Amino acid sequence: MPAFKIDDQEVEFIPGQSVMQAALAADIYIPHLCFHEDFKAHGSCRICLVMQNGRYLSACTIPAVEGMDIINIRDDVQEQRKQLLELLFIEGNHVCPSCEKSGSCSLQSVAEFCGLLSPSLPFMYPNRSVDASHADFLLDFNRCILCELCVRASRDVDGKSVFGISGRGSNAHLVVNSADGKLVSSSFEKTDRAASICPVGVILPKHRGFKVPIGKREFDVTAINERRENDAG
Ligand code: SF4
Ligand code: FES
Repeated sequence: MPAFKIDDQEVEFIPGQSVMQAALAADIYIPHLCFHEDFKAHGSCRICLVMQNGRYLSACTIPAVEGMDIINIRDDVQEQRKQLLELLFIEGNHVCPSCEKSGSCSLQSVAEFCGLLSPSLPFMYPNRSVDASHADFLLDFNRCILCELCVRASRDVDGKSVFGISGRGSNAHLVVNSADGKLVSSSFEKTDRAASICPVGVILPKHRGFKVPIGKREFDVTAINERRENDAG
């Protein structure tokens, strides 16, 4: 099989695989947020950036090529990731200590893995709403990082397109595809793939808040760099 290197470790790949796919298959963790093994790469968050020949590239979108020499975990690469993560934290309202997703949130855990303790930039405190209209699920738009995983899951797996992104740049935001924009008026169901795909605390099931105590949650038990995507409950 052809091979390339990540941090001096030999990684074999199947032609057509991205650097991210080959890395995951070899149990090498490259931090990521908008990538998920079950979906086509989206390439929007850039957290998966790695260095190749002095250039930063997104591991989830670049194809693996024989002889590549990729740098994944090094201070300068982690610093770039930290800057991107910091922007995600200040652009939304992430109140980790009171968030139901705390301990199983990919943003929180990737930030921890990359060494981001607290943002140095001022918070923007955007005015975003909460949609509690649905009997089984709550939408807290304050935490959306626009990864579009719910958009892809609803469209490509559930065949519904319940979620979409409206606006561009700093005006981009998550919308629900229903006459009044409410989740209850959409075709969303609790069994949808989109119901369990959100990496942060936007799409949250009701009636089970803090059922799993803090300290016993997914990333409290297994660090994000040690678990596979599809291990997630
Ligand atoms: Fe991503 Fe969650 Fe926002 Fe959907 S709601 S775009 S899954 S962060
Ligand atoms: Fe690669 Fe988001 S994980 S760009």
